Amino acid sequence: MAVLDGADLAIETRGLRKTYRSVRGRSVGVEGLDLRVPVGGVHGFLGPNGSGKTTTIRMLLGLVRPDRGTATIFGHEVPKRLPEVVGRVGAIVESPKFFPSFSARRNLLLLADGIGAPRARVDAVLDEVGLTGRAKDRYKGYSLGMKQRLAIAATLLKDPDLLIFDEPTNGLDPAGIREIRQTMRGLADQGKTVLVSSHILAEVEQIADTVSIVARGRLVASGRVADLIGEGAGASSVRVRVAPEDTTIATSVLESGGLLVRREHDALLVDGAGDAAQVNRALGERGVWVRELTPMQADLESVFLGLTAHETPGGHTHRGERTKRGGPPPEPAHSAQPGPTTEVGA
Ligand SMILES: Nc1ncnc2c1ncn2[C@@H]1O[C@H](COP(=O)(O)OP(=O)(O)OP(=O)(O)O)[C@@H](O)[C@H]1O
Ligand SMILES: [Mg+2]
Repeated sequence: MAVLDGADLAIETRGLRKTYRSVRGRSVGVEGLDLRVPVGGVHGFLGPNGSGKTTTIRMLLGLVRPDRGTATIFGHEVPKRLPEVVGRVGAIVESPKFFPSFSARRNLLLLADGIGAPRARVDAVLDEVGLTGRAKDRYKGYSLGMKQRLAIAATLLKDPDLLIFDEPTNGLDPAGIREIRQTMRGLADQGKTVLVSSHILAEVEQIADTVSIVARGRLVASGRVADLIGEGAGASSVRVRVAPEDTTIATSVLESGGLLVRREHDALLVDGAGDAAQVNRALGERGVWVRELTPMQADLESVFLGLTAHETPGGHTHRGERTKRGGPPPEPAHSAQPGPTTEVGA
């Protein structure tokens, strides 16, 4: 199933590389990155601290120059042809500057005038980010979350097709994170493309349609969230608990049925079962009675940790395939979380 292949791409980079000169010589910011962001939806740009997310975004926006490689936004080569496409892009990379003593509304009116956006947009974007009720308050009295929402409002003045947010939830409390998340989801639901970077999976997992995971300046996986966590790819597993004296026979029954069985403490983790009923039936037919049967689903965080915890110098995969090169596979012990039907707390 080709998810990103052939799709209209909002962003595409090929072999993008950026090194920085430092006292210790050259350090690599981005190492040959191939990024593909489809048009429409939320795309999570994920990676640990220092993996090159901000550097990539800065290259896309013409703020730093790549050493090598190419990048396009809606098919226009950037930074060379950025002026042709910049009107369709809104971004928050650095902390935006607002006048502290002016109200949010006045700040946005000034900005709108500056970029030639209609003044009527100001109230619309304030409404969009839920700041209408506080629009007349001074910026300096805003909470961090409100400031961040105002920053998003500012990017919306031009009614852009592509929004690029670099870690927009940094420093926010759970309620603030949720508000920003809902705003981003809402923008995608209107047909816009939202690229959002984060080093915290949980902040993006719920709203991202597709993700790219980077580590040490390279892409290590990309695709739909569902594919990456193995859903629909037959990679989900079932945790089985039987009486301790039945463990050996249960293992051989399941293995003879072509399933991969791993011991996890006092339970068995059965991979490739697809369906818990299949496991239950196979064991029941051999007189092994099941004490617990829990469908397990890998979550994106365990995939992420598995991919980024190791050196991953060469791998790059699409559509939920994890990299085969460049490092050991993800730790099986971390690769599954109880699914929605579990009786056991996560
Ligand atoms: N201006 C700079 N000068 C020197 N090195 C830099 C500079 N900017 C980034 N780097 C280095 O490039 C690498 C990638 O940094 P970058 O800021 O792109 O990562 P990131 O994924 O955005 O990280 P974070 O999650 O912490 O924001 C890091 O090793 C960083 O130290
Ligand atoms: Mg960053």
